[in-house]
Amino acid sequence: METVKIITVVGARPQFVKAAAVTRAVSAFNDTQGGVCIDERIVHTGQHYDESMSKVFFEELRIPSPALNLDVGSGPHGRQTAEMLAGLERVLLEERPDWVVIYGDTNSTLAGALAAAKLHIPVAHVEAGLRSFNRRMPEEINRVVADRVSAALFCPTAASVENLAREGIIDGVHQVGDVMYDSVLFNTKLAEQTSGVMGRLALKAKAFYLATVHRAENTDDPARLAGILEAFGGMETPIVLPLHPRTRKTLGADRERVGGAVRVIDPVSYLDMLMLERNARLILTDSGGVQKEAYWLAVPCVTLRDETEWVELVEAGCNRIAGAAPEAIRQAVDAFEGEGASLPADRSGDLYGDGHSAEKIVAVLTGR
Ligand code: UD1
Ligand code: UDP
Repeated sequence: METVKIITVVGARPQFVKAAAVTRAVSAFNDTQGGVCIDERIVHTGQHYDESMSKVFFEELRIPSPALNLDVGSGPHGRQTAEMLAGLERVLLEERPDWVVIYGDTNSTLAGALAAAKLHIPVAHVEAGLRSFNRRMPEEINRVVADRVSAALFCPTAASVENLAREGIIDGVHQVGDVMYDSVLFNTKLAEQTSGVMGRLALKAKAFYLATVHRAENTDDPARLAGILEAFGGMETPIVLPLHPRTRKTLGADRERVGGAVRVIDPVSYLDMLMLERNARLILTDSGGVQKEAYWLAVPCVTLRDETEWVELVEAGCNRIAGAAPEAIRQAVDAFEGEGASLPADRSGDLYGDGHSAEKIVAVLTGR
């Protein structure tokens, strides 16, 4: 039997959610297809390591345990990426896979791309072609480099295909939809059946806002972080804020002082997050993944950034870009409240594919 050997490189929270969809499609492929077998091994860089940022996702989403964890941990970009690169190079020299599959735009993505490309191993980039056109974001640099060296570029949206074409990248580009949509469709019912988060936090549906803040552009800029927290503190509707460890560290003791009706909690599991998102009246976030989940779960989203890669959400009237100034955030919230905190009824249902993105990716990787 022919074997296609894949090394999947992950390291950060959103990558576990994305890779879960593909590993599920890999097992389904191996169960149903004859003639070709996929041998997938997961390498965890160790970029995220708190139980609530890593282990909980592997358990809940039933992702096979990593064959190896490089345990790189936190550090400045150069050191963190370099340690991943050195570790991945050793693994790839030993394993010599047919593909290295990378996800999104983190330092783990960049290290996976560079390590493989230098060894002439084909790179498959899931979530290719996204652009903010803001090179001050570490994510933008990671994506641009990853796309440049990838042999297979799996684009979630039409805009991401166009972005690549503008950069002259056409070969190997496949618009397959968004694997995070596959994950939401697969897990929402499970979340309803198993998550106890609404009861645990004594929350009533549609009576609270959900917020997340972790991007460097906000956490590392005291004026922006203060602006966001001022806006949160001034809102009458209670806000639930599962706090990313990066933001927790920046706030330090100030965490206790996050005022008003803001309820700071630890990061939650994926199924709990889906339930919080679905039941929120409105979502305020600088996360990439959470912006899209808001749309899929039909909740208005205010984006706490100056731009977004997910431009189709803004065009569809489902997402308002507010940045970090308190007045702009309040205006965006008020605008959604003025519309009854509901999304436009005529929104298109297929901006991100048909929920079978992972199967399409597996088909390209196996040539089937
Ligand atoms: C990374 C990604 C970002 C992504 C985010 C998802 C890069 C450059 N950034 O940001 O694109 O949106 O993941 O969540 O790759 N920390 C802990 N425990 C952990 C992980 C991190 O305490 O398990 C703290 C450490 O103080 C660390 C800080 O968070 O220094 C930042 O972690 P890092 O992995 O460098 O970047 P993120 O902000 O998580
Ligand atoms: N998420 C989660 N628990 C949380 C916050 C986020 O499970 O407390 C999930 C969220 O539902 C989404 C993913 O993590 O699937 C997004 O990751 P994050 O916001 O850390 O990164 P980004 O998408 O901005 O890169």
